Amino acid sequence: MALQASSILPSTLSIHKEGKSSFSLKENGFLGVCLNDHHKSDFNPTVLRAKIQFDQKSTSSVGAIRAQTAATAPSVTTATPQGKKTLRKGSVIITGASSGLGLATAKALAETGKWHVIMACRDFLKAERAAKSVGMNKENYTIMHLDLASLDSVRQFVDNFRRSGRPLDVLVCNAAVYLPTAKEPTFTAEGFELSVGTNHLGHFLLSRLLLEDLKQSDYPSKRLIIVGSITGNTNTLAGNVPPKANLGDLRGLAGGLNGLNISSMIDGGEFDGAKAYKDSKVCNMLTMQEFHRRFHEETGITFASLYPGCIATTGLFREHIPLFRLLFPPFQKYITKGYVSEEESGKRLAQVVSEPSLTKSGVYWSWNKDSASFENQLSQEASDAEKAKKVWELSEKLVGLA
Ligand SMILES: NC(=O)c1ccc[n+]([C@@H]2O[C@H](COP(=O)([O-])OP(=O)(O)OC[C@H]3O[C@@H](n4cnc5c(N)ncnc54)[C@H](OP(=O)(O)O)[C@@H]3O)[C@@H](O)[C@H]2O)c1
Repeated sequence: MALQASSILPSTLSIHKEGKSSFSLKENGFLGVCLNDHHKSDFNPTVLRAKIQFDQKSTSSVGAIRAQTAATAPSVTTATPQGKKTLRKGSVIITGASSGLGLATAKALAETGKWHVIMACRDFLKAERAAKSVGMNKENYTIMHLDLASLDSVRQFVDNFRRSGRPLDVLVCNAAVYLPTAKEPTFTAEGFELSVGTNHLGHFLLSRLLLEDLKQSDYPSKRLIIVGSITGNTNTLAGNVPPKANLGDLRGLAGGLNGLNISSMIDGGEFDGAKAYKDSKVCNMLTMQEFHRRFHEETGITFASLYPGCIATTGLFREHIPLFRLLFPPFQKYITKGYVSEEESGKRLAQVVSEPSLTKSGVYWSWNKDSASFENQLSQEASDAEKAKKVWELSEKLVGLA
């Protein structure tokens, strides 16, 4: 495991509540630990009317949103008046498209005019305002309610999406929560620790259910993308900043992560919010590879993950103190040089969605300093096929698929 010279930089910036700052190598419940990952590591589309029904009885804060459809799925090619055949718009679901990477990707795809983006978000109004704020044209997107911290909501989203009559060509599992300063665990509707429950288990159920829809797509390249992170990869300096990702023997996951008679952490250890996020990202990357092994050959679907770079300005860091949020972007920009803008990260993820050159399955994509994509290597744990199989099987049980 070789450390890149350019990575030998202070990897975390500790800002104490009193406002004093210092460098330290402990994450301190603090940083997304984004360092420069610019090196190969050694180590006529459907007309949809969405009708929002705020179900007073729903436990969801936003309420259930039901999609009503007034059309059939379009065919993959449509004829122009000149008789020339053109590809229909691709249809892509992006979870967590109300901010950060998800929103930037939605914008990048929508403005090509070649994609209809289904923004799968837990806060409908926030998503609508976000889409408007970046100038997305209404005909290029639909917002549908999805709360990944509720398996019922995931199932309802899938039902609503199917009722819309739209095809599914690409699914992007992007949403995430990061709770580095949490002292105690919080839980999803089903009682799973919130970070792993949302980032991994919610997406696991969503992608397993929507696999059937992807299989039915007649689009030339259908893809399932699960956003990963350098922080879950211990073959990088960033991934070596404590607390490190480590799924251990999965005893906590096997026990349901409920924090009652079993730990809320996957490895069975004491709760640590920063570690729970990193563990969830390892699960994301393992899940992508397990999908690839099980379904790529049979379905032709491209399964991929990526590290988009350190997008230091996003809402992911919202749990941190204001001073941190002020200093983190310049720290990443000028010291670690790992910073990418939201716009650039959106272009990167949009490439993984749509670029004909990125159809290879089972790949974890990264970008070099010239913003050129390359196949990166995952850490030993994040590429452990035996562990991936176990995570898959335990997750199936937890989400009610087995
Ligand atoms: N920022 C970085 O430096 C960085 C680096 C590597 C990887 N990533 C990855 O990039 C992805 C996007 O993160 P980001 O930086 O763009 O953060 P962000 O701006 O906070 O976006 C996260 C999105 O997830 C949504 N979300 C959270 N909980 C949800 C739930 N229960 N159900 C549905 N949606 C939910 C949020 O919705 P609300 O708007 O309603 O809160 C938000 O839209 C994540 O997978 C993250 O791990 C980020």
